[in-house]
Amino acid sequence: MNKTALITGVTGQDGSYLSNLLIGKGYEVHGTVRRSSSINTYRIDDLISKHQDSGNFQLHYSDLMDSSSINTLVQTIQPDEIYNLAAQSHVMVSFQNPIYTTQTGTLGSLSLLESIRYLDKDVKFYQASSSEMFGGKLREPLNESSPFDPRSPYAASKVFAHNMTKMYRDSYEMFCTNGILFNHESPLRGQTFVTRKITRALGRIVLGIQEKLTLGNLDASRDWGFAGDYVEGMWKMLQHNDPDDWILATGETHTVKEFLEIAFDHFNLDWEKYILTSEKYYRPNEVEYLLGDYSKAKKDLNWEPQTSFSELVKMMANSDLELAKRDKVLLDEKLLTPTWEHPKY
Ligand code: NAP
Ligand code: GDD
Repeated sequence: MNKTALITGVTGQDGSYLSNLLIGKGYEVHGTVRRSSSINTYRIDDLISKHQDSGNFQLHYSDLMDSSSINTLVQTIQPDEIYNLAAQSHVMVSFQNPIYTTQTGTLGSLSLLESIRYLDKDVKFYQASSSEMFGGKLREPLNESSPFDPRSPYAASKVFAHNMTKMYRDSYEMFCTNGILFNHESPLRGQTFVTRKITRALGRIVLGIQEKLTLGNLDASRDWGFAGDYVEGMWKMLQHNDPDDWILATGETHTVKEFLEIAFDHFNLDWEKYILTSEKYYRPNEVEYLLGDYSKAKKDLNWEPQTSFSELVKMMANSDLELAKRDKVLLDEKLLTPTWEHPKY
């Protein structure tokens, strides 16, 4: 019989890549979406049109704050695997909305863990942990034993959920795993994260419809990989014999400046002519440097990243040039307002 998976946060970047992967493997995938006044399923619209009729891809309204809806879903779907990807995932926003970020980051995972605990079925659980939990002060490759030093409400909430996931694993012999993922990006990355903010602006700069882009700390360094590679690692964690915690990373770190250099060079442009910086995009407590050691995932899961840093940057730059062409047509026809002149994050 085909396996069934429940994914929270299916409308997000990772949710869309993971759904695609699991459907391809023959899973029946159920995803949670939260109601919003505008439709926010653009990342999964293709999957909806292809698979909804067959029942292989089903969406359900739910919110992390509504534990009754989460419990009902777990009870009725009785999934084999649950991937808890939903979160308020923007670090800067977490300083402005600390309570909401903490509530969603902690209560959602706890509600899922409690629902699984009382279900008369062995369910495998994946928690989306984050390299932000390490805090960015140690300038060395970080592994599963490196100390946590959270620097934002977002990171602190992820530490709580991480510890709870471990606690349920140890206390109730539940199959609970934490994937400690370093930054992973793609053409479907949210547009307020720095990589996508850059490539989205770059496409418009190439076409002459945007002049400048304002960013924050260009010296921050991240271990950036491709989201498509990372969801494969999530799945592999739940196929392992025993539950555990694993890091997924590339083992390389690059500054925001290096990202800019490769992206702008790709179109023969000098980034320094287009980039401004402003304190307004600096964080109250910056995570300066992240570099991951994924050797445990390589050994246990036979997982390795497949996409290099420069391939990732160019993939995003090319995809966003195509989107910018659409922007230009709409702009020329006066069907679009250039809101990008005043980015928020
Ligand atoms: P994302 O694109 O921001 O997606 C987050 C998802 O969570 C969206 O589907 C969002 O729904 C949903 N969500 C937010 N608040 C919710 C709530 N209160 N109730 C229900 N759903 C809610 O994030 P991502 O990049 O795919 O990351 C997936 C997970 O991995 C997140 O937990 C993130 O913190 C974690 N993580 C990400 C990275 C990374 O580099 N991408 C690294 C480490 C860990 P809407 O579409 O309606 O907003
Ligand atoms: N967003 C943003 N906007 N970041 C900027 C900007 C800007 O204009 N300018 C510089 N940066 C710097 C930030 O200060 C940070 O050091 C770095 O770029 C990366 O920022 P983001 O792309 O917003 O990602 P993040 O590293 O804070 O968080 C992402 O990765 C985490 C894993 O380490 C998110 O996906 C988190 O959800 C995830 O857990």
